[in-house]
Amino acid sequence: MPAPKILVLPGSQRSGSHNARLAALATKELALMEAEVTRISLQDYPLPLFDADLADSGLPQAAVQLKRMLAAHQGVFITSPEYSASVTPILKNAIDWISRVRDVGEAPYAAFKGRVFAIGSATRGSGGGVRSLMALRQILELGCGALVIPEQISVPRAEEAFDAMDNLKDEALAAGLKAAMRRLVELASVMK
Ligand SMILES: Cc1cc2nc3c(=O)[nH]c(=O)nc-3n(C[C@H](O)[C@H](O)[C@H](O)COP(=O)(O)O)c2cc1C
Repeated sequence: MPAPKILVLPGSQRSGSHNARLAALATKELALMEAEVTRISLQDYPLPLFDADLADSGLPQAAVQLKRMLAAHQGVFITSPEYSASVTPILKNAIDWISRVRDVGEAPYAAFKGRVFAIGSATRGSGGGVRSLMALRQILELGCGALVIPEQISVPRAEEAFDAMDNLKDEALAAGLKAAMRRLVELASVMK
């Protein structure tokens, strides 16, 4: 069976982002599980703030590229900071734009269906972004019809959570990340 293709997408483009760090660690774990991993940054897909009139007059190239990127992978790991108890505006904006891209003959939300998602969050505070994970799960599952695995990664006090090698210091958290990535790979392997 060919290695499943997994896309890793951080919901923060801040320099020094803790979620980008978590995305890098997840990429390493996925590669060790022999998945074919692609990690991208939303910085490379600049999108205007979603506006329905703008969408009616033509979709930005970056939205089409992002949609195709999702469609080319069987599994997706999204790790987003918590902003005001929800996901970041750049991540929500990207999801809204992707949801509008529909190739000829395609069902709505095709980029979100037929693949499996895992989600994570790293925050400076003690909450570990649990509220953003609830929001992201709702957006992906209820909004876009995606399958999101129940295992999720929540990294509190992110500034102290990683060691010099960018591994998670907390053994339970590190094991949780591995388990979630293993499940993502297993389920992605059975996706067409
Ligand atoms: C506008 C804004 C809102 C935030 N709201 C929350 C929040 O509700 N809960 C929380 O734990 N952290 C909150 N934070 C802190 C971020 O989670 C924290 O800065 C995190 O490190 C950002 O992720 P990054 O390092 O990947 O960029 C907020 C930060 C910003 C800029």
